[in-house]
Amino acid sequence: MTKIYAYAIRKDEEPYVHEWKEAHKDVDVDFTDQLLTPETAELAKGADGVVTYQQLDYKADTIEALDKLGIHNWSIRNVGIDNIDLKKAKELGFKITNVPVYSPDAIAEHAAIQAARVLRQDKVMDEKVAKHDLRWAPTIGREVRDQTVGVVGTGHIGQVFMRIMEGFGAKVIAYDIFKNPELEKKGYYVDDLDELYAKSDVISLHVPDTPENVHMINDDSIKKMKDGVVIVNVSRGPLVDTDAVVRGLDSGKVFGFVMDTYENEVGIFNSDFSNKDFPDKRLADLIARPNVLVTPHTAFYTTHAVRNMVIKAFDNNLKLIKGEKADTPVDLDKEF
Ligand code: COI
Repeated sequence: MTKIYAYAIRKDEEPYVHEWKEAHKDVDVDFTDQLLTPETAELAKGADGVVTYQQLDYKADTIEALDKLGIHNWSIRNVGIDNIDLKKAKELGFKITNVPVYSPDAIAEHAAIQAARVLRQDKVMDEKVAKHDLRWAPTIGREVRDQTVGVVGTGHIGQVFMRIMEGFGAKVIAYDIFKNPELEKKGYYVDDLDELYAKSDVISLHVPDTPENVHMINDDSIKKMKDGVVIVNVSRGPLVDTDAVVRGLDSGKVFGFVMDTYENEVGIFNSDFSNKDFPDKRLADLIARPNVLVTPHTAFYTTHAVRNMVIKAFDNNLKLIKGEKADTPVDLDKEF
């Protein structure tokens, strides 16, 4: 019987694993809440494929451990593959799939909600109200329709974000190295990032973490932005030089910062420090700021998205095992 073994299945994912299992009675599905590591690879012994999600780096030792078990069909439940040693995986003959589109709306909605909250100074007002200070001033908001919103990256998520912002009445402009012909026809694109920085009141990033994109938001780019800019990063932590944004917040150049992804998030986000020493001073400072909204990489975290991540990853894995063409294979020739 075909067997799929899934790692790091959370409680909120279990119902969808069971749903898939019910619909595929001819497949033996087993899972653990543990992450895939060189040590836990053994749990998958006898399986034809594994399903994981992005949390740890999957280095050569982990990949070799699967290889030793004869497992080469690997499906991840999320988009990002930046944590996998793809070169090693290719060398050992792995087939990998990801789920590039599980719910662009989940992420775009979060960006839009948080951007609007920063503009309305909701965190400040919430804190005043909690202290029973019910005065209006000086906590006055900016309306979304008065903003020019610059969208960097017009893939699935960027496009949903653009539509939501337009729904609020904002003027939307965009930049992408790969122009979408429909958006181009409609005249959304500016010529370069400098133009987007100079014209935008809100800048939202929707691009992958490639070497060229690391620290695209830095002291230099912030200098080119409008005074009072709001920066939104629900994409990947390394896109933003966090120290540069802190300097921008301190000087008042940056009005607010939405940070769902953080360059040092691995091992910190999705952990509970409520009764422990907090490990990152800079992050603690950002969390405490009234004009910074930190969320621990939860933009994706909706019932809709989680269901799609699980179901699509298992569908993909079964196709790999059967030697069929998976819906969303990772092109190992292109990715490194
Ligand atoms: C992705 O799908 O790449 C994400 O950012 C969410 C994930 C880390 C669970």
